[in-house]
Amino acid sequence: MRALIYNQKGGCGKTTTAINLGAALARLGDEAVTLVDLDPQTHLTAALGRRTDGQAWTVTQWLAGAPGSTLPVSKRLFLVPGDCDAQEPRPFADPLGGMDGTVLIDAPPVWNATVARLMAECDIILTPLEPDFLGMQGFNRLLQTMKKHGVPWSRLRILVCRYVDRLSIHREVRERLGQLFRSGTLLPVVIRNSVRLAEAPGFGRHIFDHAPDSSGASDYEAAARLLLEEWRARLGVQSSAVRRSRPETEEKGNDREESFGEAARRAAAQ
Ligand SMILES: Nc1ncnc2c1ncn2[C@@H]1O[C@H](COP(=O)(O)OP(=O)(O)OP(=O)(O)O)[C@@H](O)[C@H]1O
Ligand SMILES: [Mg+2]
Repeated sequence: MRALIYNQKGGCGKTTTAINLGAALARLGDEAVTLVDLDPQTHLTAALGRRTDGQAWTVTQWLAGAPGSTLPVSKRLFLVPGDCDAQEPRPFADPLGGMDGTVLIDAPPVWNATVARLMAECDIILTPLEPDFLGMQGFNRLLQTMKKHGVPWSRLRILVCRYVDRLSIHREVRERLGQLFRSGTLLPVVIRNSVRLAEAPGFGRHIFDHAPDSSGASDYEAAARLLLEEWRARLGVQSSAVRRSRPETEEKGNDREESFGEAARRAAAQ
């Protein structure tokens, strides 16, 4: 499985998801999981306690197809470290082509040629979303971007992050998303707001090493189980002959986007 963890909205939980979902997949699955730090902020690399400068082989070399080694993080979990000075690679190699196992790419909150190329190559676009007004606005923008660039919405998987059940706006936005997107697109688990998740990067650890009994660990484990199940089912039926039919969201994109925007405004007004 190749997943681009992407949302143009900043600070919604992309890097936190890359680290902890990756760690959960490595624990539950039986194949290697490689985390790729595509973001020049290099937060993924720093959060795993690795140097963010002076690395001989980084995402820049990875994108260019230059040979090199990933950094080991924990059992079955590896890192392609980020590069603060990353440039658009020319020519663009096929970095995903030669990779085994699962790859999770932590994207920056921008649209550029590299994101576009990788989005086209990935099996899913996993979108962490904070369920509030700005979160919905950012998500609307993502839907428009995908439409503009011809990326089918069927590849989206939405993961509600930083969820606080006592906030009515969070409950309402989640419910609305459930009405607008078929099950499967909206993952039926949430990542709750968790102090442990926020503090783990300061220790250079993922949540399973930092606080294995926390809500953050159990939430990311639940999300990983779902994605693994889906992926295994997909491999079982494999290939285009049985490809998933277009979801409703693509057929009625415009109507749904409108009601989506309305829902965002209504939720924000309460
Ligand atoms: N479930 C959560 N509970 C508590 N804090 C969280 C949670 N998810 C993320 N955070 C915190 O929110 C902040 C932003 O998270 P993160 O860096 O993962 O977002 P991002 O989408 O990668 O941001 P950027 O767009 O800048 O790359 C971080 O301080 C992180 O620790
Ligand atoms: Mg990030």
